[in-house]
Amino acid sequence: MKVTVVGAGNVGATAAECIARMDIVAEVVLIDIVEGLPQGKALDMQEAAPIHLFDTRVTGTNDYADTAGSDICVITAGLARKPGMSRDDLLAKNAAIVKSVTDQFAAKSPNAIIIVVSNPLDVMTYVSYMASGFPSQRVMGMAGVLDTARYRAFLSMELGVSVKDIQALLMGGHGDTMVPLPTYTTIGGIPLPQLLSREKIDAIVDRTKFGGGEIVKLMGTSAWYAPGAAAAQMVEAIVKDSGRVLPCAVWLSGQYGHDGIFMGAPVRLGRNGVEEIIEVELSGDEQALLDQSAQHVRDNIAKLQELQKA
Ligand code: NAI
Ligand code: 2OP
Repeated sequence: MKVTVVGAGNVGATAAECIARMDIVAEVVLIDIVEGLPQGKALDMQEAAPIHLFDTRVTGTNDYADTAGSDICVITAGLARKPGMSRDDLLAKNAAIVKSVTDQFAAKSPNAIIIVVSNPLDVMTYVSYMASGFPSQRVMGMAGVLDTARYRAFLSMELGVSVKDIQALLMGGHGDTMVPLPTYTTIGGIPLPQLLSREKIDAIVDRTKFGGGEIVKLMGTSAWYAPGAAAAQMVEAIVKDSGRVLPCAVWLSGQYGHDGIFMGAPVRLGRNGVEEIIEVELSGDEQALLDQSAQHVRDNIAKLQELQKA
């Protein structure tokens, strides 16, 4: 199988390296507009193959011809917010980038599955879906796997338990309105509320919501190790047709009372992409939080449409 990663920056290069180290596909192609960058990073990764012992071939390019016939594409191309740049600037600029890379990629790999990572995630996934013309089953966004990983990492630190024993679910858009679900969090099968006080759970949920910002504050730029690993985990589930149940940004058509937007929900991932969107029962409060999150995604789409008209 062949996987293309668009954007050879922090997240893209990390995702490419994680996928290569899994040794589950024949080829990973890293593509970027900057000449030399994807070629250099790909060569560096390839030179690590004898150490990590993978057979995946990693190449870098600036030409979409080299991505032809890809099975999966991870889109990480885009700008991070810089001083003096408004959110609206980022929305419009990244939408133009995501549309352009999707157009170029989809023309060469019409049967691929697209995983969008660029921010603002839920809207960029929508942009890629519209640009590709692919069925919704084959377009999704990565956010929930990262947000859930952060949540599980914080729980593991608090409880002193292995991350391997923490199962959790988180829904909604990627950002401050995400909806972690403590009622669907278990530690070795034990419901979280039996092990941790309400106050401590709330503090961890809050830290998770602002987990991206915590890293930006520390480093002056956004995270890449966990985001790259999260995108790679989605690729692995598709490549292995494993049926893993992971929270992904998916096209909703009535599920959870919403339609016509991409938003985080638990899905079963397999060879065809989104094999199933799983609907779980939510309490009134949880549904209200999800509705707020959906409204935020809708507002962002409307803002983008306004900016595109101007
Ligand atoms: P970065 O700046 O390190 O890398 C972005 C890369 O995109 C650069 O190498 C740039 O040359 C490339 N690029 C720009 N325009 C392009 C085009 N038209 N075609 C191909 N490549 C192009 O940024 P980083 O840290 O890798 O983040 C990438 C994106 O991912 C950002 O939008 C960031 O906000 C988002 N992100 C999303 C996360 C999520 O959970 N969904 C988590 C972390 C980051
Ligand atoms: C993150 O959550 C900024 O979306 C990015 O780290």
